[in-house]
Formats: sequence, C-alpha cells, structure tokens
Amino acid sequence: MIATVKPFGKANGQETYLYTISNDILTAEICDFGATLIRLHFDGVNVVCGYDSVDRYILNDSYMGAIVLPNANRIRDARFTLNGQQYNLRVNNGPNNLHSSLPGGSAQSIWKVVNYSETELTLQLDYKDGELGFPGNRSFKVTYAVKGDRLSITYCRISDQDTVFNPTNHSYFNLNGHGTVLNHILQLNCSHTTPNDENSCPVGNIVEVEGTPFDFRYPKAIGRDIDEENQQLAYGKGYDHNWLIDDFDGSLILAGELYSPETGIALQTYTTMPGIQVYTANYLDNDKYHPRDAVCLETQFTPDAINLDNMVKPIIKAGKPAVHITEYRLYKKES
Ligand code: BGC
Repeated sequence: MIATVKPFGKANGQETYLYTISNDILTAEICDFGATLIRLHFDGVNVVCGYDSVDRYILNDSYMGAIVLPNANRIRDARFTLNGQQYNLRVNNGPNNLHSSLPGGSAQSIWKVVNYSETELTLQLDYKDGELGFPGNRSFKVTYAVKGDRLSITYCRISDQDTVFNPTNHSYFNLNGHGTVLNHILQLNCSHTTPNDENSCPVGNIVEVEGTPFDFRYPKAIGRDIDEENQQLAYGKGYDHNWLIDDFDGSLILAGELYSPETGIALQTYTTMPGIQVYTANYLDNDKYHPRDAVCLETQFTPDAINLDNMVKPIIKAGKPAVHITEYRLYKKES
C-alpha cells in the first residue's frame, strides 16, 4: 500500500486533504479538517459514518469522526475554576459548554500535518493562552496509526500552564456499513454510570448499572432496552451517557466490545481514560443518516469532571507532556 493524499474540498477558503493510512487489515482515511476520521475499512465494510466532501463537516454539530479537544463533552454552566481562577467558556448547549466550542474548535479547524507515512499520520493544533476559554499556550498532537488489527489514536499535549485535557474521537460506528445499529450487540466492562440532568450533563452521582437499561456488563442488543420508560433514556432520547470503566488505572485497558451478528464484525475499544460516552446518534437526522444509525464510543473523562470532586479530573500540569491513548480493534468473530 502506498500513502495517498487527495484534495477533499475547501474550508474557510483553504484546501483540505484526505490522507490514507493502511496495512493488510485496515484502511483509514483522515481529513486534516477536524483531524476527522472519514472512513475506516475492515473486511470490505466502511465501519464509520462519513460524508464525501468537507462541506458536510463545516459547522456540523454532529462532530462526525472529529477529534474533540481540549475538552470533550459538557462543562456545566460553561465555566470552571482552576488554581483559584474562574474560566468562562462559550455557552453552546443549553446553559452548558459542549465539546469546547463550535464554531472554531478542534473539529472545525484545519490541523497541520507534521508526520505522514503509509501506516501513520500525525496532526498538530496549537492554541494560545485563553483561546476557547481555556488557560495555557497549548500544543496538541494527535497520531492515527494502523497497527495490525488496531486503529490507534494517541493524543499528546503540552501547555505552559495547568489546564484541562480531555480529548476524544467522535466517530459514529456502524459495523454493517449502513442502517440501524439497534441490532448491534454491545458489551461494556462498566458497572457504574454517571446520571444526567435534562441537559445531558452529569449531576455528579455515581450509580450501579445493575437492574437498569444501562447494564451492558453482559452482551446485549443496543435496541433491547433503549425504548424502556426511563427518565435517563428520556433525557437523552436514547443512550447519550457516560459509563465509568471498571479497573481504570491509566493503562490501556479494554472498555468493551461492539459486535454485529449480520457481518460478524467486532470492534473492541481500549483506552487509558476513565470513561466512555455511548451515544446512539439520537440527534443525527439528515438526508444520509437517521437517529440510531450509528453508535459513538467516545473514550473520555467524565463529562463536567473538572467541576466534580468525586471524579478523576482531566487536569494537566504546566510543562509536563501528557498522553492519552485509545485503540479500536477490529476482528471477525465466530458466531
Ligand atoms: C453528546 C451528544 C451530542 C453529540 C453531538 C455527544 O458527545 O453527548 O449529546 O448530541 O455529541 O454533538
């Protein structure tokens, strides 16, 4: 396989490009706009939702395939205090901040490609102190790499001040390549969730999944309980919640597995981060995709953890490089 670069259309008057990385098992296509995973091919199926040119990604609030940082998910009332100082963010989701910013955030910026080979692509995005409302002159690097049957995503950051670092990849997975994911089987190594308020922001308590529609400790069809009468499911119009990964210790561990009996494709998610947001694309609705046509498996810190003292906080110290890793492993499962 040879590394290839193709134009992907103009954003903000500037050409964007699609970079292919591949090995014998996986082919990933990534755009420098949003450092977005546009396609991920395994066994003849594109297992992520995506569009054919960059215009569909501009000001698109589904964050499809994008890298979201410095902070994924919600921050209550769009503010937080760090080292005694209050920082105010853009209010862009009810009274809260969602995914750091729209427009102008990492998902809508053209990243600089700093390294590219057949199997690896590294993109960089820098923010000045105060940009997007967060402290520190910050340099972010994200590396996508195909390693055997895994797509590995490494997030690196260095800042000259203490700041927030809670990155994610916002891919919408569908292991059949199209249609509903309600028949996909999900298993999560997670015994606890963090319930939300009506704006899908965690209220700060931790509850056991046992006896609730949130129990995926044993493999279960995503659609089995999704329409149950349940306040949490009603708030999110389906699953749009954070689970805490059992045995989190900062090393790369298995968060769970998604499997489609139709294609026999299984996807395992490994991460160094403490949580996973499972989002069943409840707000995705356009000419190409509909609600529940995909599931996002967003590895991240607990939403609003920066304001919650009982959660692992996504704080990074000045001058200290920080790294988080997420890996998606694809394989064919015997049924
Ligand atoms: C959020 C959803 C939101 C989606 C797209 C997810 O991470 O939890 O509520 O609709 O991103 O922005």
